[in-house]
Amino acid sequence: MFSLLSLGLVLALLKSGLAAVYDDPGQLPMDKQYDFVIVGAGTAGNVIAARLAENASTSILIVEAGRNNVGFDSYLITIPFFGPQASPHTTFDWNYTTIPQEPLNNQLIAYPRGYVLGGSSSTNYMVYTRGSSDDYDRFADLAGDDGWNWDNLFPYALKGHNETGQYIPSIHGTDGPLLTSIYGYPADTDDRVIAATAELSEEFPWNPDHNSGNMLGVSWMHSTIGGPLRSSSATAYLEPALRNHSNLDLVYNSQVTRLIQNGEIEGLPVFTTVEFARNPTAPRYNVSATREVILSAGAIGTPQILMLSGIGRSLDLAAVGIKPIIDLPEVGQNLVDHPLLPIQWNVDSNGTMDPIYRAEAALEAALEQYYANGTGRLAANGVSTQMAFLRLPENSSILAEFGDPTSGPGSPHYELAFADGFFTTSQTNPTSGSYFSIINVVVTPTSRGAITLASNDPFQHPTIDPKILSTDYDVNVMIESVKAAQRFAAAHAWDGYITGPYIGSVNTTTDDGIKEYLSRWATTIKHPFCTARLSKEDGEGVVDGQLLLKKAKGVRIVDASVFPIIPAGHPQAMVYIIAERAADVIKAAWGM
Ligand SMILES: Cc1cc2nc3c(=O)[nH]c(=O)nc-3n(C[C@H](O)[C@H](O)[C@H](O)COP(=O)(O)OP(=O)(O)OC[C@H]3O[C@@H](n4cnc5c(N)ncnc54)[C@H](O)[C@@H]3O)c2cc1C
Ligand SMILES: *[C@@H]1O[C@H](CO)[C@@H](O)[C@H](O)[C@H]1NC(C)=O
Ligand SMILES: *[C@@H]1O[C@H](CO)[C@@H](O)[C@H](O)[C@H]1NC(C)=O
Ligand SMILES: *[C@@H]1O[C@H](CO)[C@@H](O)[C@H](O)[C@H]1NC(C)=O
Ligand SMILES: *[C@@H]1O[C@H](CO)[C@@H](O)[C@H](O)[C@H]1NC(C)=O
Ligand SMILES: *[C@@H]1O[C@H](CO)[C@@H](O)[C@H](O)[C@H]1NC(C)=O
Ligand SMILES: *[C@@H]1O[C@H](CO)[C@@H](O)[C@H](O)[C@H]1NC(C)=O
Ligand SMILES: *[C@@H]1O[C@H](CO)[C@@H](O)[C@H](O)[C@H]1NC(C)=O
Ligand SMILES: *[C@@H]1O[C@H](CO)[C@@H](O)[C@H](O)[C@H]1NC(C)=O
Ligand SMILES: *[C@@H]1O[C@H](CO)[C@@H](O)[C@H](O)[C@H]1NC(C)=O
Repeated sequence: MFSLLSLGLVLALLKSGLAAVYDDPGQLPMDKQYDFVIVGAGTAGNVIAARLAENASTSILIVEAGRNNVGFDSYLITIPFFGPQASPHTTFDWNYTTIPQEPLNNQLIAYPRGYVLGGSSSTNYMVYTRGSSDDYDRFADLAGDDGWNWDNLFPYALKGHNETGQYIPSIHGTDGPLLTSIYGYPADTDDRVIAATAELSEEFPWNPDHNSGNMLGVSWMHSTIGGPLRSSSATAYLEPALRNHSNLDLVYNSQVTRLIQNGEIEGLPVFTTVEFARNPTAPRYNVSATREVILSAGAIGTPQILMLSGIGRSLDLAAVGIKPIIDLPEVGQNLVDHPLLPIQWNVDSNGTMDPIYRAEAALEAALEQYYANGTGRLAANGVSTQMAFLRLPENSSILAEFGDPTSGPGSPHYELAFADGFFTTSQTNPTSGSYFSIINVVVTPTSRGAITLASNDPFQHPTIDPKILSTDYDVNVMIESVKAAQRFAAAHAWDGYITGPYIGSVNTTTDDGIKEYLSRWATTIKHPFCTARLSKEDGEGVVDGQLLLKKAKGVRIVDASVFPIIPAGHPQAMVYIIAERAADVIKAAWGM
């Protein structure tokens, strides 16, 4: 049913245009050189490519491992409601899995990453939160460059952003490429969520727009959705750039296997040759950049490529048979991700998303409407409607015991996301009933894990250990989040609607009960960050404040891996914003 219906809808990404687009590495002209080679046509990579291509005398190649974003199954990455079904374990996914997570009863967690043009922006859940101004200011401080602070980056947020349903118009752009909008369908729970924030306004104050830099409180959720379609870095940046510019080439189905040293400048190794191949048994090819290689392969791909190139913790590299060239012990370290825990209540209503989640007749009706005129439930984000970003109270014993890891008083410790249905990424959906869900997220976690190489074979997955909920701070904040969610759901606004908690198999009324519950159902929200973090300090971090690889020449990194801290919110907006300014930093460096 889906494949037939979707034929009329797919975006004709590569139909026409000026650029050369190759779907196999063997098609690239052998002798061609580029000023810039960008590794990864993902969220950040496509921003860099589109901005650099604005200078017509500059040549750029993007090398992407994943597939085209057009195909019989592309409804999964175009129809907003299906976002959560785009991964894991589809043709859009790298299919990574973590090693056993001890605090989660040693479960192995599926760890999706976009394997497609647009990268994870083509497969994510589309929530758009810019984050707190404190986080940007801390980023700038750790980089030693005020250019990265909130005030200086705010124009880049507008540049990338085209808001169709804004709340505070003055803080949203109107002429950027990335389309965003607030929740586009009247949810069963909207009025009650808003009434609960009025009733419990001290703990859950209403915030008219959490994208102003002050994100605390409850707001409508914004999404990277424009009209009836997902807006990704492929649709907003790559596609228009390929159409418009003849100096931009793209090769996909082409996995970068390593960077190759091709000389020395000022005693430092130069890494401007990129080696890539279609699959493990296919031939490998080299392409060189005359100016820079920009690594935008994401928080897993980027450290993996660095390590395969001999850049990382020398002892670890030698142990898997890779000749160490640059000793940079933090490559792959500091992996941090947001832990997530859904909880649900039974409700007395027939208006929730549940029948659609369960693919009952309501789904067919919704599909019919969507294909008729692009409206209805499927045109909206299927994840959440409003969300709260909250701080622990100042006198919290957690802060007294562990300190405060947030970037400042405007930054949250945790998040509650509201959904009018049984939303989960870890439990089995019940086969009947109607539900209200609150998704708890620790947005300023202190657990740190790592990406390491399992082998010197680039086609073997690296070892991924996010160490979810491995600190007492993270566990205690999650418990406080669940209690806050329970207080929210106890507001009178829910009288006659919520009929009682949906208690999977444990009792969530005590701290021990919540701990037991989270060991079963907590997971990650899939926001890996910081695996090639920047630092202005010598002898620390992987890149400097201008995102240049340390102890080397010719390599810059622009993606989630360079962040020195994980954004306290949904991070894609900050990735787009950082990439927009990084493009200007690169242009300035080369007199463009
Ligand atoms: C399931 C899921 C849901 C999410 N939901 C949200 C959300 O609702 N809101 C939000 O703000 N954030 C969300 N995120 C996080 C957000 O999407 C990411 O943080 C962000 O997109 C990362 O951007 P990036 O440029 O660092 O990496 P990516 O966008 O992943 O780009 C990396 C690109 O590099 C390519 N690549 C990797 N290795 C190689 C190689 N060796 N050779 C060539 N190419 C390579 C990849 O295929 C990919 O295209 C979600 C993420 C996932 C996975
Ligand atoms: C991920 O798994 C799906 C389902 O098995 C498969 O179709 C897809 O090719 C896999 N992705 C990669 C990159 O191998
Ligand atoms: C911004 O969005 C509006 C509405 O979707 C659209 O008409 C306009 O062309 C967009 N602007 C850009 C630059 O894409
Ligand atoms: C594409 O080029 C045309 C003509 O130069 C220009 O008007 C338009 O704004 C460009 N669009 C994008 C998305 O760059
Ligand atoms: C790529 O470059 C490396 C190092 O110069 C060389 O050994 C290798 O043969 C090259 N591969 C191809 C396909 O040219
Ligand atoms: C939901 O539908 C059932 C079956 O049609 C009906 O009995 C029930 O009254 C409805 N509940 C509400 C709250 O509308
Ligand atoms: C779209 O179609 C539905 C019926 O399928 C209708 O109720 C709705 O009003 C239509 N919306 C627009 C904007 O045409
Ligand atoms: C924190 O302060 C609030 C209100 O001032 C008080 O009710 C609460 O008991 C205090 N908590 C702790 C842990 O001291
Ligand atoms: C959960 O535990 C509390 C305290 O022990 C108890 O009062 C309550 O009845 C239990 N609830 C359920 C559903 O088991
Ligand atoms: C493009 O970049 C070159 C340097 O590579 C520079 O000389 C030229 O001025 C730039 N053009 C524009 C329009 O900025």
